[in-house]
Amino acid sequence: MTPTDRTQERLIETYRKKAKHYDITSRLYPVPGYPQRTQRLRAVHALGLRPGETVVDMACGTGLNFRLLEKVVGPGGRIVGVDLTDAMLARAQDRIATNGWRNISLVHADAAGFDFPAGVNAILSTYAMTQVPECAEVIAHGARALSGDGRWVVLDLKVPGRTPGWLAQLGTATVRPFAAIDEWIMRRPWEAIGAAMRDELADLSWTELFFGTAFLAAGSRGPVRS
Ligand SMILES: C[S@@+](CC[C@H](N)C(=O)[O-])C[C@H]1O[C@@H](n2cnc3c(N)ncnc32)[C@H](O)[C@@H]1O
Repeated sequence: MTPTDRTQERLIETYRKKAKHYDITSRLYPVPGYPQRTQRLRAVHALGLRPGETVVDMACGTGLNFRLLEKVVGPGGRIVGVDLTDAMLARAQDRIATNGWRNISLVHADAAGFDFPAGVNAILSTYAMTQVPECAEVIAHGARALSGDGRWVVLDLKVPGRTPGWLAQLGTATVRPFAAIDEWIMRRPWEAIGAAMRDELADLSWTELFFGTAFLAAGSRGPVRS
């Protein structure tokens, strides 16, 4: 087993343990009172979805975005939720059943190997992409599958720009149980995500949220490049 496989196994184990109470504990993520719902609303708005369209929710977890997405695509649209952790998907399935949604399908897959449906209208990923080592490739695969005016939106946490390393570590101590945070701070995956989106998408917008502790990146496919 490679170190990458071991890291992924640890991640799955972590989310298996969290799945049952994720909907409640995520309200404390990354710290109690964090404006997560406002950020989710902004991310869904940035997708520019219309009724009847199809959206992929990449690393959907327990499906906390589904209600917001349902509101914009309506019963005639389609939502595809993808996640690596079986237990998170099981909670997502419960949510679908409880709400009687008939237009959501779930796929148990690693984002890195996921085959995006061709011509998909939008792709969303919230609080997950910085955990995917192959995030740049996933952005590229998704971008190439988008419809002509399709949009890719990533919302995730980051370390504020002007924060010294030691302070960032202190500030993110609360999220330490959620990830190998030191490695995450060193790797700065939000930069790779920004660079990949700039390469693959037209009109990229990058907005820092809540004092630079999160980012909302959005872009559309634009003209097809050769
Ligand atoms: C913090 S949760 C976020 C879940 C959801 N997007 C939300 O906003 O509540 C991170 C999710 O990413 C998933 N994940 C992490 N790495 C992944 C990968 N390589 N492929 C697919 N899903 C992944 C985990 O299983 C987990 O459900």
